[in-house]
Amino acid sequence: MSYKWKLAQYLEVRWWKNYQKKLGKEYLGNKKDYWQKILAAADISAPVNKDVLDVGCGPSGIYTVMDGNRVQAVDPLLDQYESAIDFFTQNNYPEVHFFAQPFEDFDVVQTYDHVYCLNAINHFRDIEVSVQKLYACLRPGGTLLVGIDGHRHGFLKKIFQTIHMDLLHPVQMSLADYEALFSKRGFTTQKTVQYTTGNIFNYYLLKLTKE
Ligand SMILES: C[S@@+](CC[C@H](N)C(=O)[O-])C[C@H]1O[C@@H](n2cnc3c(N)ncnc32)[C@H](O)[C@@H]1O
Repeated sequence: MSYKWKLAQYLEVRWWKNYQKKLGKEYLGNKKDYWQKILAAADISAPVNKDVLDVGCGPSGIYTVMDGNRVQAVDPLLDQYESAIDFFTQNNYPEVHFFAQPFEDFDVVQTYDHVYCLNAINHFRDIEVSVQKLYACLRPGGTLLVGIDGHRHGFLKKIFQTIHMDLLHPVQMSLADYEALFSKRGFTTQKTVQYTTGNIFNYYLLKLTKE
């Protein structure tokens, strides 16, 4: 998995560099509106004065709409985003504590009321370790919101897993695979939302809790 992950991370920076060329000044505002829609779809009121963790946060993650909370955000590409992505600088978010490292290497020294892992888990190096760590991060009674692409067809999933044709995403799973993995690690599913429909993948929000 490691060579796949390294290649995916190399391509991820390139993807954001190309993507930003197409963006106008309204991009960050639009992305913040998108995050509010995601929270509403998952029935999560915007947290206030809570401990919040954004895992695989990227350069415009949900941490951008978490003012008034104690926010931490983890992503191995933060230093590269800082130098290559015009709309991202950590200085714009003085209240967010950023960790430039893979989540698999993140030291869990506290728990959080809200953990977000959006559009990210299928990029990770070791999904088993990461799901265990997400569980360790969550305070009992807290909420984990995961946003994922789930394969719609078993035969296409098998092809994608075997031929490794979706280079940006080392992890290729269906909604049922994700649900089984989170359940195996102790999470309870509170809500599943099919947010968009695609030909190969649907996009789902999984709202998970720890009893
Ligand atoms: C598609 S971006 C999503 C960013 C953000 N959550 C959003 O939705 O805008 C996926 C992110 O996952 C990050 N990522 C990849 N492997 C990771 C890992 N092992 N631990 C934490 N983040 C990782 C990538 O660096 C990338 O920034």
